[in-house]
Amino acid sequence: MKTPQETVREGYDKLAAAYREHYAASHEAQYGGWLDDFERAVPPGRRVLELGCADGIPVARRLNPAYDYLGVDISPVQIAAAGRNVPGAPFRVADMTALAFPDGHFGGIVALYSLIHVPIAQQVPLIGKLARWLQPGGTLLVTVGHTAWTGTEDDWIVPGATMYWSHADAATYLTWFAEAGFSVQRNTFVPEGNGGHTLLRLRKETGG
Ligand SMILES: C[S@@+](CC[C@H](N)C(=O)[O-])C[C@H]1O[C@@H](n2cnc3c(N)ncnc32)[C@H](O)[C@@H]1O
Repeated sequence: MKTPQETVREGYDKLAAAYREHYAASHEAQYGGWLDDFERAVPPGRRVLELGCADGIPVARRLNPAYDYLGVDISPVQIAAAGRNVPGAPFRVADMTALAFPDGHFGGIVALYSLIHVPIAQQVPLIGKLARWLQPGGTLLVTVGHTAWTGTEDDWIVPGATMYWSHADAATYLTWFAEAGFSVQRNTFVPEGNGGHTLLRLRKETGG
């Protein structure tokens, strides 16, 4: 029996090339404004961590080298593509739940459509770590669920690729982030098909 993380890694290894094509148009349209927002909140030169950086487009390409950027992804195929797309930027293959950094290490963290692949029971401790890794006043730009759902889909984007997602509803996430010491700077519903996701820009306050 595979773990959810093994399913996700194998799935993205299979569909990495197709992912870019599938989402290129919507990402192009949406991410620019979100990153403008992030850049206004995080001074240049700060350490920035991206969780689930995929092939480095568009986030790594935009944030490196203006920031001291590090991209992490569980899929070696995605990380290999990132290395080709953004030469010279530092990337690491890792499960985001297994990472360790000193407290206050980052000025910003970006996790677009990636936290939602982590089993829900592991998300609360991870959110606590994200809060600790950020310096006070640091920014977390993150996509979370809108409605609660955990499950898999076979043949997602390409035949033979199974994908796993797990997310709570938006109100539950807002509670978890508040308990971890974040304040909400932006809360946007991002429609997709019959549903959608929640984009949050959060500020790490000193408490939490
Ligand atoms: C839906 S894609 C989003 C990619 C990129 N952030 C974007 O918005 O275009 C999710 C990415 O998160 C990565 N990912 C999923 N679970 C992960 C985990 N536990 N640790 C690190 N990366 C993970 C996947 O391999 C995949 O590249």
